[in-house]
Order: sequence, then C-alpha cells, then structure tokens
Amino acid sequence: MTVTLAPDDIGIAAAARLLGQGMLVAFPTETVYGLGGDARSDPAVARIYAAKGRPGFNPLIVHLPDLAAVEVIAEVGPKARALAAAFWPGPLTLVLPLRAGAGVSPLVTAGLETVAVRVPAHPLAQRLLREFGGPVAAPSANPSGRVSPTQAAHVLEGLSGRIAAVLDGGACAVGLESTIVAADPHPVLLRPGGVPVEALEAVLGEPVALGGDAGKPTSPGQLASHYAPEAGVRPDAVNALPGEVLVGFGPVQGDISLSPSGDLVEAASRLFHILREADRLAGPGGRIAFAPVPEEGLGRAINDRLRRAAAPRA
Ligand code: TXA
Ligand code: MG
Repeated sequence: MTVTLAPDDIGIAAAARLLGQGMLVAFPTETVYGLGGDARSDPAVARIYAAKGRPGFNPLIVHLPDLAAVEVIAEVGPKARALAAAFWPGPLTLVLPLRAGAGVSPLVTAGLETVAVRVPAHPLAQRLLREFGGPVAAPSANPSGRVSPTQAAHVLEGLSGRIAAVLDGGACAVGLESTIVAADPHPVLLRPGGVPVEALEAVLGEPVALGGDAGKPTSPGQLASHYAPEAGVRPDAVNALPGEVLVGFGPVQGDISLSPSGDLVEAASRLFHILREADRLAGPGGRIAFAPVPEEGLGRAINDRLRRAAAPRA
C-alpha cells in the first residue's frame, strides 16, 4: 500500500518519519519526482534499487537542503563553490570528492570516491530535507527504463505498492532532470539538464568539456573499473579453490556471506562492504570466489556488479 501524503505540515512530518524508518518516500523537486531513501542506510538504498528494478548499481544523487549540509559529506572546490553560489537551490547536480567518514552508504556512490549532490529548490523538497535532517538519496521516481515522473499520479502508476508514500506536490516546473557537472579541477558536463551549459560557462568564465552521458558515452564498465576489487573475482562458485576467499550466499556458507538467509535486499545492502572486506581477506594477489546469486530482482544488479568485477581489467 502506497500512501499519498498532502503537502502540509502533517504530510511532511509523516514523510520525514518514514524516511527515518528506512522506508521509501517519493517527493517533488523542481525537475522531476525523486524516489527518496536515507542515504546513510544500506537497506534503505538497497530498497531504492529494488523498487526501481534497476539492472545495475548506477550511483544515485544525494539531496541536501543547503551548501552547509553538502560540505558535511563532500569536498567543495573553488569552481564547484562558484556554481553552487549561482545555481543552488536549483536543477544542478555537482559530482564532488566524498568526504572520509561522511557516513554515506557505498551503495549510493556504487563504491566510487565521488558523490553526486544537489540542493533542490522545490519548497516541499526543502521542507522535507530540513525536517528529516539527513542526506536523502533519490533517483527519479520511475521504474527503470520508463520516463521520469512529473506528477504524483505518474509516480503511483509506476511504483504503487513498491514504496511507502508519495508526497503530492502537484506538477514539477522544470520537467527535465538536473544538469550534472564535475567542476574541479576542470569542469566536465556529465549530463545535460535543467541548467544550460552556456549558463555554467558564463559563471566559470571557461568552456565546459563534454563527458559521460553528455559526450562520448561512458560505459558502465568504465565506471566499474574505478571500484573493482584488487583481488581477482570468480562468480558462481560453490567451493573455494586453494587460496581463494569464498563469499557465501544462502546455503553456501563461505568465509563471509552476502546474506546467510539468502535475502537479496540484505545481500545488496552488504555488497560493497563485502567486496572491500573480501579484498582485505584475500590480500595482495589474492582471489575471491562468489557463491551463485539468483538472477531475479536485486540479484540481477548484484550479478551485474560481480560480472564486471570478474571481467578482464584494462
Ligand atoms: O533532477 C534530478 O537530478 C533527479 C531528481 C529526483 O533530483 N534525479 C535523477 O537521479 O535524475 P537519477 O538517479 O535518475 O540520475 C543520477 C545520475 C546517473 O546518470 C548517474 O550516473 C549520475 O547521476 N551520478 C551519480 N553519482 C555519480 C558520480 N559519483 N559520478 C558520476 N556520475 C554520477
Ligand atoms: Mg532517471
């Protein structure tokens, strides 16, 4: 059952409370509706991927109420600061170095050392973020492969029954996703969106290079090479070969386990922690074997990640 919450004090308080319980709440921003979850909670972020039915772990945008809150989790360089001053709150997402100890779930960044952050202008998003008081991870609130929703009714068409609530703020004004930029040391446009690239260049006084989704497509595989474990990876293993660390799932116990009970949400929520831990256990030149994970629901995203980790490195 997905509850529709009214855009008033009671609705906002209920939305903030649900987020605090690790539940998912769709909320309006000036671009599109976001599918929000507590960015510090591994299970909440795993539920976001499950609700969207995403086939892989694309990193998510973290929503915060202002620059001061952004600085708690990320390092804001000089060019990023200039763009933030000009366009926040608003439809601009900055990709910044993640601060050590920021407490953001590695599922949000898909294990990267950068984090995408945005300060939305929509008054309801602002009120929700302040009331909740923590970072909110939010991709667009649509099932994977469908168009982004600009009304609460669109959110319900795609996600009804799969999320706790939608905060109904009417239609979104921009209707186009935020522009994504990495600003320092050299500005690179990663996705065109609500803020035109010319406006960014006017503020920075220099050209913005096209990268990622905006220029030559960055394959998810390229992105993956940043967070592949050091150790070699062998998926679909039932036993460890000599010298291998075995990561279990369900009946395959292993040295450590993604989920002893075979729960895919738990497995996804632990995946990046386990990759790191297995890498540490395997040691230099070591190898990691992974028990089979069913190719269904979040298992598809987990297997996608493991296949990338197993692929030959460039
Ligand atoms: O307007 C918007 O940005 C909406 C609203 C809800 O805020 N959100 C949105 O999120 O469009 P999503 O998850 O659909 O798009 C996130 C994009 C992905 O293309 C992802 O690759 C990129 O942000 N991204 C996230 N973190 C990144 C990082 N650390 N480095 C590079 N790209 C990143
Ligand atoms: Mg999207």
